Amino acid sequence: MPVRHFLTLLDLSPDELQGLMRRSIELKTKQRAGELYQPLRGKILGMVFEKSSTRTRVSFEAGMAQLGGHALFLSPRDTQLGRGEPIEDTARVLSRMVDIIMIRTYEHEKLERFAAHSQVPVINALTDRCHPCQLLADIQTYIEHRGDIRGKTVAWIGDGNNMCNSYLGAAKQFGFKLNVAAPKGYEPSADFVACAAGHVEVGSDPAAAARGADLVVTDVWASMGQEEEQAARAKAFAAFQVDAKLMKLAAKDALFMHCLPAHRGEEVAADVIDGPQSVVWDEAENRLHAQKALLELLLT
Ligand code: CP
Ligand code: NVA
Repeated sequence: MPVRHFLTLLDLSPDELQGLMRRSIELKTKQRAGELYQPLRGKILGMVFEKSSTRTRVSFEAGMAQLGGHALFLSPRDTQLGRGEPIEDTARVLSRMVDIIMIRTYEHEKLERFAAHSQVPVINALTDRCHPCQLLADIQTYIEHRGDIRGKTVAWIGDGNNMCNSYLGAAKQFGFKLNVAAPKGYEPSADFVACAAGHVEVGSDPAAAARGADLVVTDVWASMGQEEEQAARAKAFAAFQVDAKLMKLAAKDALFMHCLPAHRGEEVAADVIDGPQSVVWDEAENRLHAQKALLELLLT
């Protein structure tokens, strides 16, 4: 059987994704009840990080330990990857020693090359193109607070970045409508937009996107690797802050999400992210539960 990877949300079927959401909620209940559940005893997760991380590293490492397995943190500072060993060779070697691998890197194409040379499942833990693990947590969070997301309207306000691309994939796979408001020149990738055809509208008016939305989502204006564009981006995105006025245009019971880390006073006003509609802490916690369900699916 060919190895199963999770590089984008399209690598799982809509039914598998729904099953993963149910399983994640079950694993969260087990964890909260203090129940020991260790189906991954003896299994090892290799974690390759070429960019910083708080949530992704801790959720994968803690999740693997809770499931009875072990996780190895590998950074380019300490591995031969940082000294130019080809990604293909690294994939061949690591996948002979560990049972599953997650990678956070820059070019999505590098992740695909890694996966093509790996004997074990590879998980996308963020590339410049998408961040599918975050979407598992976001959708779980919506379901827990409001029920099924099918047929609902989600507003994406800001950069058409890796998170926005993943929301496009999720719109298709989970069956919701996505209104994107991005400044001209910062729209999401055309292929993701085409793939979500029938579920997406892309414009540049935050008010139009937010009107009546059940969920409002944003992310940083400058992603990792774009630090030197910060000033130009701050100018381009000035009218794209999610503030209380924008949230008022959304549905009365609309939720607010942000994958974090956040910049209060830039993409989101402090009273929104710290206010009653914000579910960002549940969203962050659900990274743990959703990825445990994903590890279980790919390994058992
Ligand atoms: N949301 C997210 O992926 O956070 P980290 O960068 O801290 O992993
Ligand atoms: N768009 C952000 C997400 C961080 C989790 C970045 O790529 O830096």
